[in-house]
Amino acid sequence: MIKFTLNGKDVALDVDPDTPLLWAIRDEVGLKGTKFGCGIGMCGACTVHMDGYATRSCVTPISVAEGSEITTIEGLDPEGAHPVQEAWRNLRVPQCGYCQSGQIMQAASMLAETPNPTDEEIDSVMTGNLCRCMTYPRIRQAVREAAN
Ligand code: FES
Repeated sequence: MIKFTLNGKDVALDVDPDTPLLWAIRDEVGLKGTKFGCGIGMCGACTVHMDGYATRSCVTPISVAEGSEITTIEGLDPEGAHPVQEAWRNLRVPQCGYCQSGQIMQAASMLAETPNPTDEEIDSVMTGNLCRCMTYPRIRQAVREAAN
């Protein structure tokens, strides 16, 4: 049994310890906001927070989550009103939307550590989160707005 906290609630899952955290969240718990993109840690669509740090859930075995606090897009803010989410809505960042929960989780984790990032810092952190619709200019603008 793997025990951890998911969006503030205690969870205990009887799964293979090698199960990627992504699939435990999506298939065992049923939270579908965290997306599968590449499955090899390269695109960022599956980004969640583990103890506050942005983590690629597709390459994180569930055993690593034992005892940790996991936050997904569903738990970032109970009302969906985290400053990053507000900025995303204000600037209409998403296009197809598929990568956006990962983008938001990555941005929220960066701003928790670096509340006023430079454009270079934004680009360097967000560059690993790929967007096939090329919404990068709006992502950068929204991170700036959320930082203010
Ligand atoms: Fe995890 Fe692409 S699905 S990084």
